[in-house]
Amino acid sequence: MDEVRTQVAIIGAGPAGMLLSHLLAADGVESVVVETRSEEYVASRIRAGILEQSSVDLLRSAGLGDRLAQDGDQHRGIYLQWPEERHHLDFVELTGRSVWVYGQTEVQKDLIAARAADGQEIYYEISDTALHDLSSGSPSVTFTSGSGAPTQVTASVVVGCDGSFGPSRDAVPSSACNTWEKVYPYSWLGILADVAPSTDELIYAWHPDGFAMHSMRSSTVSRLYLQVPNDTDVDDWSDDRIWSALGRRLGDGQDGWSLDPGPVTEKSVLPMRSFVQTPMRHDRLFLAGDAAHIVPPTGAKGLNLAVADVGLLAPALVDLLVKDDSRLADAYSDTALRRVWRCTHFSWWMTTMLHTSGDEFEQQLQLSQLRWVASSEAGAMGLAENYAGLPIGF
Ligand code: FAD
Ligand code: DHB
Repeated sequence: MDEVRTQVAIIGAGPAGMLLSHLLAADGVESVVVETRSEEYVASRIRAGILEQSSVDLLRSAGLGDRLAQDGDQHRGIYLQWPEERHHLDFVELTGRSVWVYGQTEVQKDLIAARAADGQEIYYEISDTALHDLSSGSPSVTFTSGSGAPTQVTASVVVGCDGSFGPSRDAVPSSACNTWEKVYPYSWLGILADVAPSTDELIYAWHPDGFAMHSMRSSTVSRLYLQVPNDTDVDDWSDDRIWSALGRRLGDGQDGWSLDPGPVTEKSVLPMRSFVQTPMRHDRLFLAGDAAHIVPPTGAKGLNLAVADVGLLAPALVDLLVKDDSRLADAYSDTALRRVWRCTHFSWWMTTMLHTSGDEFEQQLQLSQLRWVASSEAGAMGLAENYAGLPIGF
């Protein structure tokens, strides 16, 4: 068995794991990161696209803001729409905060480059990840390395940043945690297309056929989503069928607005669920990001919550390991969960307000709620404050 010692063993090289490793290193705390996928796979995974203000602030203060400043696109707000009506919600006017279009893929590439520049040890393409001795002073993670060597990383703490399917959350005995879950009766069909966005800011559209959204990645790449039934086979959706559904739901041809179709370069179906496991700590194991909680994507919160978690966890671990001060570490779970539950509620609220379920009574309530959000300052403010993001530590 190859044996490695470090201060923090991090499972998962997604945004939570890599940012945590980066923040710890800035304060002199050593970590080892282990990841099942290859570096190329992790760097090119297409996922979230929106950073809220506090995520941008944290990335900038961590020295990760250069490409974000150059290639990120600052947006004042979003459009909220239903048939015949489109309303702009101006987050800057409402809350003084804005959001940035900067894909998770770019955040991930920035993190990989920054950790490589620092000489960070990352084991990619591992298998058989297992967690051990979490209640002892020297917990460990064992795995088979990419070259086939059985390896053990022993640390002072282990952090599970291994997303929704990793082993960390299951390493907490069921008697020591609670879980909450909601599965939604619809999914998203997402596409990436080589075409200039047909809108300056994101459009969230309610439509009797189902929700649609127009997002973007750059001035030449659009990202769009359609509500589809669960278990939809992506092959049943030709590019023509997708563009025609998007056009209908987004209001192509109304009030002089048109949706420009273009070559589809990626297409996938995303199921939607809410999940929270509490507490986010079990003895010497801490959970961060999707390992502890999943939100449906409608409020663009998944990546932002992962960033917020490690923004709290990094200083807590520095105090614990460098100053032997456990106060922040002891408070981590309760503090993080305040934001997690706020975002869980917001994501559920956005999702259930915008997706149709076939229930006609619910549709009337949805339209009434949308009209209120778009026309009342209090309604708009509630959406804006949550979407643009509450301050770290909320
Ligand atoms: P992840 O990014 O999932 O990273 C976890 C890492 O752990 C992965 O690299 C994984 O390979 C690794 N891992 C797993 N198991 C092991 C193991 N046994 N050993 C070692 N490593 C392991 N959010 C939005 O806000 N908007 C979106 O549009 C959006 N789209 C999404 C689309 C998809 C397909 C998915 C899965 C998520 C999407 N999300 C979206 C959510 C967002 O991407 C996540 O919230 C975010 O990636 C969380 O970061 P993380 O680092 O916690 O987890
Ligand atoms: C994107 C995804 C979201 O879930 C969202 O609410 C906004 C934008 C995106 O992928 O661009």
